[in-house]
Amino acid sequence: MTDPTPSTNDILSKIRAAKSAASAGAAPVSPASAPPEQAPAAATPVEAPAPAQPPATAAAPKSTSDILAAARAKAGTPAAAPAAAAAPKGTADILAAVKKQAAAPAPAAAAPAKPADVMAAIRAKAAPAPAAPAPAAPAATAAAPAAAAAKPAVSAAGLSPADMIKAARSAETGAPAAPKVVLPTKPLPGKAAAKAEEVPRRSVLSDVLAVACAPAVIAWTSFFGSLGAATLGLARFMMPNVLVEPPTKFKIGPPTDYAPGTVSTKWQAQFNIWVVNAEVDGVRSIYALSTVCTHLGCTPNWLEGEQKFKCPCHGSGFYKSGINFEGPAPRPLERVGLRLSEDGMLEVDKSVKFQRELGQWTNPSSFVGIG
Ligand code: FES
Repeated sequence: MTDPTPSTNDILSKIRAAKSAASAGAAPVSPASAPPEQAPAAATPVEAPAPAQPPATAAAPKSTSDILAAARAKAGTPAAAPAAAAAPKGTADILAAVKKQAAAPAPAAAAPAKPADVMAAIRAKAAPAPAAPAPAAPAATAAAPAAAAAKPAVSAAGLSPADMIKAARSAETGAPAAPKVVLPTKPLPGKAAAKAEEVPRRSVLSDVLAVACAPAVIAWTSFFGSLGAATLGLARFMMPNVLVEPPTKFKIGPPTDYAPGTVSTKWQAQFNIWVVNAEVDGVRSIYALSTVCTHLGCTPNWLEGEQKFKCPCHGSGFYKSGINFEGPAPRPLERVGLRLSEDGMLEVDKSVKFQRELGQWTNPSSFVGIG
């Protein structure tokens, strides 16, 4: 059996022959004129160009080597075309198919399959209409039109390489590419308003502080403050110091309110006196004793059970009559003035004191006799 695959020399010789024949006006070598032993036994799908043929291969072959390389690459690449499973077996078939593809016009609608081709196609598309996706970046195009014009069309369109590849693939599949949504970089209204309000507030505050800290303002404020304080002090000086004291004369009710032989502590807290109805020196009378201890001035307590006044400070004791009998107290309690007023009420006069050691208890102003 002979090898159906011709050598490179054979292919080159045939191509040269075909070129010479073409230059001589003869008909180009067609697949039909190929030797029967080199023609494929069955019809090959190479007759129909692949729909996904790259645009680079659609260009006319410049040399024989290029044609062979392209043909072998196409025949040896399984993903080059859908009919790769039925690749041509002979070199003549390969050459014929390649030449046929080269002679045929490149499909305008064929989409590039390689990323580089996709990029090239997208750049070619984007070049004549750079401002088509202008809504994606309106501020940039309006602010710097010169810079946008200086940049490539792809950059002016605002598309990244990934976007361009997506757009190319969508164009290949027929589906429209999703537009890229770019939100405007406008700040939030609330924050913008707050920032806008900070400036006037700070300016007003700084103005107020500047006015308040002015030397003239401080001086006048201090002057008027001192003048007001002096006025208030003078007014207080002109007013007398009055001590509110209880009255020295007051009425304590009728004599019948004080039973014989009793000591009333009713007025101890209010007027510092005890009212006693007792017999002193053979005379029954009503008298008023001061609640001030004659030792050092403490207030004794009336002990009803013991029928005596007992001083809590140093233990002095006084009888119901007021005479001291124990403790350091040097003398009896003092009496205050008492009289029966015109209305029949007992009237006390604390401005008058009567001392027993001085013989003053015999004074009629020191007691009210009860018949
Ligand atoms: Fe009353 Fe000393 S003050 S006993």
